[in-house]
Amino acid sequence: MLKHAAIAALLAAPALAEETEFVIPEGVTLEEGLAAWDRIYEVTSHPRCSNCHVGADNVPMWSGPSYGDTARPHGMNINAGDSRVGAEYVQCSTCHAYREFAPADTTPHAAPQVAADWRLAPVEAEWFGKASREICTQLRDPARNGGRGFEDIAVHLGHDVILHWAWNPGPGRQPAPYSLEEHTQDVLIWGAAGMPCEGDS
Ligand code: HEC
Ligand code: HEC
Repeated sequence: MLKHAAIAALLAAPALAEETEFVIPEGVTLEEGLAAWDRIYEVTSHPRCSNCHVGADNVPMWSGPSYGDTARPHGMNINAGDSRVGAEYVQCSTCHAYREFAPADTTPHAAPQVAADWRLAPVEAEWFGKASREICTQLRDPARNGGRGFEDIAVHLGHDVILHWAWNPGPGRQPAPYSLEEHTQDVLIWGAAGMPCEGDS
């Protein structure tokens, strides 16, 4: 009897619904979905996101206003290796280990120290320098986005401490556009519209 009730409760309350309250918008038009994507693209192509979402050369980027006019590879010859955490060379955590009161909270150009697992995003999620449609088709492709549906992407956004930093990156660094809440809402709008990308036929 008890066992039966426990299983019923599990079925009725999947982990997602339990932890996060999302209202999936209804009646979203294709036009609204594409407009939401345009805002999502502004975020995903922003330096606070794309500096880590780089390709197979495994080199994080230093780009955005606080790094001067031209984007350049991370200083000090940093290479994250195939591990994406620098295990083959110098570990990211050598400088980017989590500290509760990090110098980067108050000092421009200090290394961000917001997450114990500061590392590059998976190579499939390469966003740096990519066009809107390229990022869009990657982000809706479960084979290349960590097996996520749009609701999972929304959940991921709320749970990732790196992202909380990207909207509050300390002095000198330009925050990602909009806010975490607005970005999450845009992902839900885009998802409810069927994850459309510019140029779909
Ligand atoms: C410090 C590096 C770093 C920064 C900065 C960063 N990310 Fe990521 N991102 C990661 C890593 C690592 C993963 C893989 C985590 C996982 O799959 O659980 C990831 C995965 C993701 C995913 C999951 C889907 C996919 O395609 O893999 C999304 C969505 C995402 N990031 C969004 C963002 C956004 C939006 C920003 C900026 C506001 C951002 N990230 C900034 C490191 C970063
Ligand atoms: C020797 C210390 C050191 C190591 C090791 C290191 N970093 Fe950094 N990193 C820094 C410093 C310092 C900055 C800030 C530079 C500035 O603002 O001028 C930085 C900035 C960054 C940025 C830019 C953040 C932004 O958007 O402003 C990224 C991305 C980054 N590091 C990723 C990594 C990754 C991934 C690794 C491991 C492969 C790594 N770093 C290893 C010192 C280091």
